[in-house]
Amino acid sequence: MSQTIKNCFSRLLPSMLAAALCLLPLAGCGGGPEPRDTVRVGVALYTQDDTFIASVVQNMERTAQETETDAGIKFNLSVVDGRNNQTTQLEQVDRFLARGYDVLCVNIVDRTAAAVVVDKAQEAGVPLIFFNRQPVDEDIRRSEQVYYIGVDAQGNGTLQGRLVLDAWEQDPSAVDRNGDGVLQYAMLEGEPGHQDALLRTEYSVKALTDAGVEVEKLASATANWNRGQASSRVALWLEEFGDQIEVIFSNNDDMALGAIDAFKAAGAGQLPLVVGVDATAPALESIAAGELYGTVLNDADGMAQAMVDLSLALWSGEDPADAVSLEDGHYVWLPYRQVTQENLSDFLET
Ligand code: BGC
Ligand code: CA
Repeated sequence: MSQTIKNCFSRLLPSMLAAALCLLPLAGCGGGPEPRDTVRVGVALYTQDDTFIASVVQNMERTAQETETDAGIKFNLSVVDGRNNQTTQLEQVDRFLARGYDVLCVNIVDRTAAAVVVDKAQEAGVPLIFFNRQPVDEDIRRSEQVYYIGVDAQGNGTLQGRLVLDAWEQDPSAVDRNGDGVLQYAMLEGEPGHQDALLRTEYSVKALTDAGVEVEKLASATANWNRGQASSRVALWLEEFGDQIEVIFSNNDDMALGAIDAFKAAGAGQLPLVVGVDATAPALESIAAGELYGTVLNDADGMAQAMVDLSLALWSGEDPADAVSLEDGHYVWLPYRQVTQENLSDFLET
């Protein structure tokens, strides 16, 4: 055989084999139910229009593909957008269950609706993973097959506060613009009622007051995790307080970037110390540019990996505790870290 024909033959061999196998009465060749080597995971998002959530989904898609290759199975991921409407999301959950999905991952719109989702999944005998938006513990414990994957909001709020504390302790004059020994700040809050908004707001400031720093709140408002809303709000604060604002705490990076947008649009000279949470790609760029002072990692990649690993274990009947690090039988807590210019290179993709 000539080299070309040999090459061609070896290239065709797998499809010839596949075609031959298809003649055997096996499930999975054309039509019929999904073969047993396909795991079907339904992912319901509170909204697709959220930088952090979009990055979790992107990471999940990549991780699922890698798992397909490594584990030799088919990972069928179906992602739906709840458009911030709990009724829409409940319909989406019903549809996943009616279509026989193996595992559901739910980023719940309204945490008070969690019990309804738990009961639906339990009735259908489908394991359920909540992520990022944390239901109350009582709802998580309603059924054995319910899990939560997330980041401890109190912990990352505290780390955000310590970013500011370290800057204050290293060089107070750089932060304390009016030199009165008091830290004047403004707070941009995420959605009302979201555990991450409540706890980050409280614990960021507490890290400073616990260390004996005197603080003064000039303003606070919710901007619903949203860059545009934060920018409009901070534009108003700038009119009212101008350069009295020494620090802006923001419950997430998108709103922190919105604050910076407002300062730039107003041509307002030196930026105050602005800190966020998430470590999204645009936030890392802003740190590199010397605009955002720092952030705390909200591990989108780790969250995606844990969801894929846990889904696979639940589907295959493996002990979930062998696949992910499980606390109290229900919770996966992801680690978090501070990010500033000093360690930025650890976070930038190579
Ligand atoms: C993130 C936000 C995101 C929110 C959505 C938070 O943990 O920090 O960026 O908008 O989750 O639920
Ligand atoms: Ca001051």
